[in-house]
Amino acid sequence: MAESRKDVISSLDRVIGLIKTDTRDIPAAEKKRMVRETLDQFQNYVSPGWLKYRKSVSSDSAEGAVLEWQDGGAYCYGLEGEKFIDCLGGFGVFTFGHRNSEILDVVKAQLDHQALHSQELLDPLRGYLAKAMAAITPGDLQYCFFTNGGAEAVEMALKLSRIATGGRWFISAVGGFHGKSMGAVSVCGKSTYRTPYGPMVQQVQHVRYGVADDIRQAIKNLQEVGEKVAAVILEPIQGEAGVIVPPEGYLKAVREICDETGVALIFDEIQTGMGRTGTVWRCEHEGVTPDIMTYGKAFGGGIMPITGIICRPKMWTQQLIDNPWLLGSPTFGGNPLCCAAAIAAIRYMLANDIPAVCARKGKLLKDGLESLAKKYPDVIAEVRGVGLMLAVEFRTQELGYETAKGLFARRVMTAGTLVNAKTIRFEPTAEISEEDISEVISRLDEALADTRRRCARDMRKSGAAPRTLKDVSRKNVPGVSAFIKMQQSVQDRGLSRKQ
Ligand SMILES: Cc1ncc(COP(=O)(O)O)c(C=O)c1O
Repeated sequence: MAESRKDVISSLDRVIGLIKTDTRDIPAAEKKRMVRETLDQFQNYVSPGWLKYRKSVSSDSAEGAVLEWQDGGAYCYGLEGEKFIDCLGGFGVFTFGHRNSEILDVVKAQLDHQALHSQELLDPLRGYLAKAMAAITPGDLQYCFFTNGGAEAVEMALKLSRIATGGRWFISAVGGFHGKSMGAVSVCGKSTYRTPYGPMVQQVQHVRYGVADDIRQAIKNLQEVGEKVAAVILEPIQGEAGVIVPPEGYLKAVREICDETGVALIFDEIQTGMGRTGTVWRCEHEGVTPDIMTYGKAFGGGIMPITGIICRPKMWTQQLIDNPWLLGSPTFGGNPLCCAAAIAAIRYMLANDIPAVCARKGKLLKDGLESLAKKYPDVIAEVRGVGLMLAVEFRTQELGYETAKGLFARRVMTAGTLVNAKTIRFEPTAEISEEDISEVISRLDEALADTRRRCARDMRKSGAAPRTLKDVSRKNVPGVSAFIKMQQSVQDRGLSRKQ
């Protein structure tokens, strides 16, 4: 041991003491020490890259970083009580708000009598949750398999499609995102996350997103040369690509192609599901039922991590009945505590018609964003999305980063996307109030005005006085260019952050 057992126990005792202390009772000196220690520990024991890349590590806080320490409703709070309107929503995790009290109560009640299961006896919550999922998903989707993370659910979906169809090839979309485990990243559509790990799962054919004929052609070509296709995997709206909504009728057309060619259709609803886009699942919008659907993020109610797949009975083959652990046997997948959270989340979503709330508040927010796009056409290129899954695309990466920083300083939390660096997502919780939506728009207005001013000033300093505001968005702006360079080099080395 590098440190004595006594020293390790005593430092962990201090941390446990902090966890058990009301934040208001943590002395100021102790908070300062926590910031210092966190920066040091990330530098030396997590990864220095995290410190470079996070907006929370910034000079606008007295100690040089905002530590995340508590959350509730539509807000996240820093250790010093900094209050952020959460417009990032954990990339879709916090649809029902932070620590939603109804869901939290159920999780606490479950925790009071059982956390994890023996792995041998039958754990009833798995069955109750699976039945509820069959009830709230379209068509004859029926058999569930629960996992711990989104990428793991995607792995299960890919494997299931191979075992059920006998096919080997997958068709996926350029720009798509399905997680970063080996199978999931193989069907992802961005080179940054694939190239460093090749060879990938080899039998993947990427096609343009939103063009159904590309899928038809890819399947036809493969079948003509004697290959068998297992599945088409798609996000019904591409999230990490910057909220790309496909043309109306796309999902239906892909369903028809899969039916004609005997290929399974997988919809990855990990980000779009559980009400965020205005319907419980996005595929309902076109009245389409996939053969396999993945879900995650908000599924655990923003309190517990649980993901999974659901499939049609024809996909759950005799082989999987004969050996129920053939597909996977994750120790923690579908554990009672996580199932309790998901059961409470589904109940909350249905009882409060969260899809309708997302549709209504999403419209308000989108209207506000669109009015700013009209006011700052030199900075904002486009506003996209449905429900509370929205994105603003900036004219350049620099303008986007500068505006996100300005929002962070004004205590509105947003983030970029993994696949499209020019885009900032707005995925607030459905708990966000109408007043806070107006507040977000007015703070964004200020941040955009600042971005415009700062970029124009930096351009003048660098001796390239812009004649029109369009020039600002075209030219590289000193100050943020260092960040962009760093990000590029991180990406080139395949070291980009998780999200
Ligand atoms: C559509 C989609 N699929 C899969 C994943 C991967 O989920 P996880 O990060 O839990 O592995 C994500 C994460 O952003 C996602 O948006």
